[in-house]
Amino acid sequence: MPVNFLGTMRFTMPITMPITIPVTKAVATFQSLTPTKFNHASYLAVAKTRAKALHAFALVVPIPRPQLFIGEQSCFELCDMMINEGATKILIVTDAVLNKLGIPNKVTDYLQQKGIGFHLYDGITPDPTFSVVEEGIKQSVDNNCDAILALGGGSVIDASKIIAISQATKRKPKKLMGLLKASKIMPLYCIPTTAGTGSEATLGAVVSDDKTHQKSLSIDPRMVPLAAAIDPVIMKGMPPHITADTGIDVLTHALEAWMSVNATSETDYYAASATRTVFQYLPVAYKDGENLKARQEMGIAAHYGGISFNKAGLGYVHAIAHQLGAFYGIPHGRANAIVLPHILDANRDVCQHRLATLAKKAGVLQSAQTKADDGNLADHLIAQVISLIEETNIDRSVKGINEADFKKIAKAAAIEVRDTYSVPKYFTQAEIIEILHDIKDINDSLIK
Ligand SMILES: NC(=O)c1ccc[n+]([C@@H]2O[C@H](COP(=O)([O-])OP(=O)(O)OC[C@H]3O[C@@H](n4cnc5c(N)ncnc54)[C@H](O)[C@@H]3O)[C@@H](O)[C@H]2O)c1
Ligand SMILES: [Fe+2]
Repeated sequence: MPVNFLGTMRFTMPITMPITIPVTKAVATFQSLTPTKFNHASYLAVAKTRAKALHAFALVVPIPRPQLFIGEQSCFELCDMMINEGATKILIVTDAVLNKLGIPNKVTDYLQQKGIGFHLYDGITPDPTFSVVEEGIKQSVDNNCDAILALGGGSVIDASKIIAISQATKRKPKKLMGLLKASKIMPLYCIPTTAGTGSEATLGAVVSDDKTHQKSLSIDPRMVPLAAAIDPVIMKGMPPHITADTGIDVLTHALEAWMSVNATSETDYYAASATRTVFQYLPVAYKDGENLKARQEMGIAAHYGGISFNKAGLGYVHAIAHQLGAFYGIPHGRANAIVLPHILDANRDVCQHRLATLAKKAGVLQSAQTKADDGNLADHLIAQVISLIEETNIDRSVKGINEADFKKIAKAAAIEVRDTYSVPKYFTQAEIIEILHDIKDINDSLIK
C-alpha cells in the first residue's frame, strides 16, 4: 500500500472543507515529480523533494478526527449517533467470517430494537479487491442505503470508505484512487473488530487489483469517518494469531511514524503512547483474548497509531510488507512483523537518538538502564520489538519466497517509499534486495 497520510491540524472540519490553493499546488508538485527513468540519483532527488512537498502539504491540509466512543456500550452510542444524524437505512459492511461468528448481532439487534432499517453486506475479503467493493456499492444503491457502518478490520473499513465515496460521487472505485478524490462521501461510521490498522482514524483506503493483487491507495481527509466505536467485546473473539499480527501492525505504524522525518510533537505523542500500550497489553490480549481491559487498550493504541501515521507517514517496513502481501499472500500485520526487525536494524545508525528516546518512553527499561547511552538504548528497543514478535509466536516464514522476484519487489517498494513516505534513510534497490535475502534466510531456517 503506498501511503502518504498527511496533515497537521487537530480539529473537526466539516466534510465540505474547501481544498485550498496551496494544497492543490502541493498535489501538483507530487504529480509532476515522477521521473521516467529509474536511477538512484534521480530517485533520491525526487524522493527528497516529495518529502518536502509532503511536509508542506501536511501544514495546509487539516485532518478531521472521528468522534470516538470507547467501552462496552460504545457500539450502542455509535448507533444512537447514526440515528440522531438521520440514518434511515444503514449498509452494514462486514466479512463472512465475522458474520458467521455472529459479531454483527450486537449492532443489528440494537438497530432492530430501535426500528432502524439496515442491509448487511458480508462480502468483504482480506485485502479487498475492486470487484468486492463494487458489489458493496451495488448492494448499497439497490437497497437505498443512506449511511454506511463498517464493522470489521482494516479490510472492511477501507472497502467501506470507497463504497461511501463511490455512492456519493457516482464514480467507479478505480477512478477514486489517488489524492483528493472524495469530493463527496456518504455518512460513514466504524466499529473496528481488529486492533491493528487504525483505519477508522486515517485518511486513506487501500484496494487491491483483482488479478495482480497490487494495492492502490486513495487519500482524502474527507474519508475519515464521522465516528468510531472501540468496543472491547467486539474484539474479544479475535484468535491469538490475528491479535498478534494486527498488534504488530500497530507497533509498526507507531515506529515508522516515530522515525519519519515529518514527525511532529503531536505525532510523537500518539506514536509513543501506542508503542507503550502495545508493549504492555499485546502480550495480555494475545494470551487472554477475553481480557477486556487489554482489548480496549489495544483498540485505543491502534487508533493512536492511525493518528500518528496519518500525519507522519510510514516507511520501508510497509513498503516491503505490501509486496510480500501481493507476491506471497502474507496478511498485512504478519508481513510487517517479518520486515520490521530488518528495517529497525538498517535505520539504527541514523535513528539511534530517536530510538533511544522512544525506548525511554515505551516502558521497556529497567531503572538501571535509563542511564545507558543512545546506542545501547536503541539496541534495547530493537531487541524488545524482536522479543515481542517471538513472544506472540508470529510466523516469520514466507512460503514461496523466491529470489527471482526480488528485483520486482525491491523496485515496487522503492517507488512506494519515493512517492508516499518521508523516511529517515533511503535505501538503494540493491540494499532492499539484501534485506529480502535476510528475510529468505530466516524463512529457510524455519522450514528446515
Ligand atoms: N486505511 C488504512 O489506514 C490502512 C492502514 C493499514 C492497513 N490497511 C489495510 O487493512 C487491511 C488489513 O486489515 P486488518 O489487519 O485489520 O485485517 P483484516 O480486516 O484483513 O482481517 C483479517 C482476518 O481477521 C478476521 N477478523 C477480524 N476481526 C475479527 C474478530 N474480532 N474476530 C475474529 N476474526 C476477526 C477477518 O474476518 C479476516 O479473516 C489490509 O488490506 C491493509 O492494506 C489500511
Ligand atoms: Fe499497517
